[in-house]
Amino acid sequence: MKKTFTPKLSPRLEGIVSLLPECEKVADIGCDHGYISISLVQRGIAKSAVACDIKAGPLEFAKKNIEKAGLTKQIDIRLSPGLNKLSEDEADAIVIAGMGMRTIAGIILDDLVKAKNADFLLIQAQSEIPEMRRFFVENGFTLLANKLMTEEDKYYFAMLLTSKEEIADAYFKKNGGRKKLLEKLKESGAGPEFTEFTEGLDELFGLDLITNDENMKKYLGHVIFEWTESIEKISGAKKPDFEKLEELKKKLSMAELALELNTLFKK
Ligand SMILES: C[S@@+](CC[C@H](N)C(=O)[O-])C[C@H]1O[C@@H](n2cnc3c(N)ncnc32)[C@H](O)[C@@H]1O
Repeated sequence: MKKTFTPKLSPRLEGIVSLLPECEKVADIGCDHGYISISLVQRGIAKSAVACDIKAGPLEFAKKNIEKAGLTKQIDIRLSPGLNKLSEDEADAIVIAGMGMRTIAGIILDDLVKAKNADFLLIQAQSEIPEMRRFFVENGFTLLANKLMTEEDKYYFAMLLTSKEEIADAYFKKNGGRKKLLEKLKESGAGPEFTEFTEGLDELFGLDLITNDENMKKYLGHVIFEWTESIEKISGAKKPDFEKLEELKKKLSMAELALELNTLFKK
């Protein structure tokens, strides 16, 4: 029997695919190679998929891979800027990965109703992760889970969201999740300096990652090093950018707090 193609996923893609709960039809926006759609269908996480891209070249690439995987019946391909060519209720899950925060925010704002009609939104922004989290919260989404992926020396963050209260309740019931975490935090003995800053910490790093993720300690060490170096550089400049300096100092103290919290939860 001819062996069908199964994409070998990078840690970034593996993390994205593993974060999505089971769904009927997933829309993979900016599909490029099509690996996300193919893997989600092959693993039975999605029954079918619509792989969309704004450019014909990547879509052709996805088409070839979908054919090699023998999934032409389960995966549609569509030339579509953002969610434009999806119908209102077509997908119960939407994945947007590998794009900058501003591109993703633009895609969502262009079609907010469609984005909110889906049960799950799975986002992996390449930049401005705290701003991405804030954008979704400000636009009526609940952050269900964060995921940190490491690839060589790079760190990637994915987030699972919903705009639907009943989906959020069911998810938290099944997965414990971030709601439980806040309760646990209160009982953990973490002082007021922690609880006072939970919202800020959550936006900056994701409380679930701070308290549960094994790679978070390494990531926090990395940003503490980077931000300390930047503070020294700015402070030593002839005309220091005081606004930037203040912002970095604030972020650094949050990172140090997050590291303390991370250690506390490991005990
Ligand atoms: C870096 S690739 C990411 C591919 C895949 N999602 C991943 O995470 O590996 C970004 C893809 O998004 C597509 N893209 C960029 N802007 C888009 C938009 N507004 N709507 C749909 N696709 C878009 C690009 O053509 C490109 O194929």
